[in-house]
Amino acid sequence: MSEQGNGTSTQGLAGAVVVLTGAGRGIGRDAALALASNGAAVHVSDADIDAANAVVGEISDAGGMAHAEYCDVSSESSVSELFESIGRLEGHIDVLVNNAGIYPLLPFAETTVADYDRVMDINVRGVFLCTMAALPLMREHGGGIIVMSSGAGTLASIAQPTARSLPLYGASKAAVDRWALGVSRELSAMGIACNVLYPGAFVRTRGLAALGLSDADMAATVAPDFVAPAIVYLAAHRSGEISGQLLKASEFGTVWGPGSAAPAV
Ligand SMILES: NC(=O)c1ccc[n+]([C@@H]2O[C@H](COP(=O)([O-])OP(=O)(O)OC[C@H]3O[C@@H](n4cnc5c(N)ncnc54)[C@H](O)[C@@H]3O)[C@@H](O)[C@H]2O)c1
Repeated sequence: MSEQGNGTSTQGLAGAVVVLTGAGRGIGRDAALALASNGAAVHVSDADIDAANAVVGEISDAGGMAHAEYCDVSSESSVSELFESIGRLEGHIDVLVNNAGIYPLLPFAETTVADYDRVMDINVRGVFLCTMAALPLMREHGGGIIVMSSGAGTLASIAQPTARSLPLYGASKAAVDRWALGVSRELSAMGIACNVLYPGAFVRTRGLAALGLSDADMAATVAPDFVAPAIVYLAAHRSGEISGQLLKASEFGTVWGPGSAAPAV
């Protein structure tokens, strides 16, 4: 453990074993690249294995350590296989980034029960399954869990036309928020930090582009690497001084993190 300039402790990322879900593109891809450039051994998992392989190629070309793994987070057997294979290879996990998520444009009147099951299976069940499977690999050393969430459907975003059309997505993210904050105290007692992270902005990814935003909304988006510094910081500060928090990447370095009035959160 080392001291940062702002006085908070950090375990750093050199050699840390980090697992990201849905990291074949978008926010997860950029986080994987940033974590690897900070010395982490990164496990890039995705339901699209070609995309995961491409990210691992980029990391390797830049001199980083990475492995590509197939994982459909909604499938219990797929999640078990992923974490069993990482356990055999690494023996433990330091950080899990629950990033995989879908946000199809589904007005309520056009939503089917199959749509409901798919969104909830990936966005909620997936977080539950991956965190549960990571636990035995984190308990001995401690670690950190980051849950990528969203303010979609909250009062702050209800005025946005796209937010109005994502009620199911908003419900799924509200569910993981409460779940993650609810388990954080129990995990803290095991030396595992657990935090929820919102981008705090529309992030220009393939998933977002599929929503067909207006030019005005697209102009207000931020680049996919916008969230990575906050993920890197939380991954490095996993010793428990930041846990049970709902944080925004848009407030990183001002409201929380380095340079903020409160150094830790
Ligand atoms: N882009 C934004 O503006 C924004 C805003 C708030 C929150 N988020 C959240 O950030 C996360 C990443 O979003 P993004 O915009 O990068 O998305 P994206 O659609 O660009 O990428 C998502 C990745 O997840 C993978 N994936 C989809 N289903 C999967 C499954 N069942 N198992 C494993 N992987 C699967 C996809 O193959 C893809 O590589 C999501 O949880 C999303 O809800 C994004």
